[in-house]
Amino acid sequence: MTSDLKMTARALVAVGKGILSADETVQIVTKRLETASILATPDTRRAYRELFLTAPGISEFISGVILHDETWHQNSSTGPAFVDVLLRLGVLPGIKVDDGTRALAGSHGEAITEGLDGLSDRLAEYRELGARFAKWRAVFVVSGTLPSAACTHANAHALARFAAMCQEQRLVPIVEPEVLMEGAHSIDRCEEVTGNVLHAVFEALHDQRVCLEAMLVKPNMVTAGSEFATRATIEDVASATVRCLRRHVPAAVPGVAFLSGNQDHLAVTSHLNAINRLTTPKPWTLTFSYGRALQSEALAEWRGRLGNIRAAQAAFIHRARCCSAAALGRYTAAVEREREPAAV
Ligand code: 13P
Repeated sequence: MTSDLKMTARALVAVGKGILSADETVQIVTKRLETASILATPDTRRAYRELFLTAPGISEFISGVILHDETWHQNSSTGPAFVDVLLRLGVLPGIKVDDGTRALAGSHGEAITEGLDGLSDRLAEYRELGARFAKWRAVFVVSGTLPSAACTHANAHALARFAAMCQEQRLVPIVEPEVLMEGAHSIDRCEEVTGNVLHAVFEALHDQRVCLEAMLVKPNMVTAGSEFATRATIEDVASATVRCLRRHVPAAVPGVAFLSGNQDHLAVTSHLNAINRLTTPKPWTLTFSYGRALQSEALAEWRGRLGNIRAAQAAFIHRARCCSAAALGRYTAAVEREREPAAV
């Protein structure tokens, strides 16, 4: 049974490929559309998702897409369900299954991710409908004293319970512990917190008997906080990130697929490239599972207009190609400039 899952986990981090995170909640995607002056309705959200899922050439750079439940149950404008559109393209469909964050009782300003009740049954249903993997995100606020041990351990435990249930239901878990970039902390503090969180997560995964070869981890890169006085250099982000992962992510895990967090598309592309160019031994494949960074340029091109879809798709494919090059350590200024004109 786990041999299937191991193959799926490896396919998700196949050479030069990464994952598109298109699983923002209805509230978040509504906010994103509204910032681009697009009225958010089930239909405009569907059209927005369709733009990415049907972009010509998507399967060259994207191994899998994480969907939100709303999109999971929607059909493309040409008829078939989005899940079937992806399966036909050879892109693996995944599903976000956590129920979002709530305030953590007994803590000030920290969050716990909920959604474990009934999860096993929901996973079985998604598997039956074609899902191959699932995602759960936990968030950790950074300050001089946070995250608390209570927050770290409660979220690590939930991530591990999610991962164990996924494997039991024949889905590859993507375990996403996100140390938030918001704050005035230094890159050293981010490295310390990210290390503590990953340590707790892998201890919990071990306790829940999760097969490490049949899962992926989706962490933040190690960066200075967004309000820290100076931005860390690309080389510092790359070396701190790889040092932290080498200390805390077992070699049995086939892949690390980074989230983009609050970093812009150019920063995350350059950082992923520098990470892959480091000569330090790296036992896992290091790739991307970006949401905002893969979508922002396309959203700006689209502006909700039918006539802009091709240009928006070209912007998305361009960013996916750049991220793919970065996953191979081959991203250059020339690759960034090589944007093909939108097909008509
Ligand atoms: P970002 O790349 O926008 O951080 O999104 C990744 C993700 O899946 C968040 O849950």
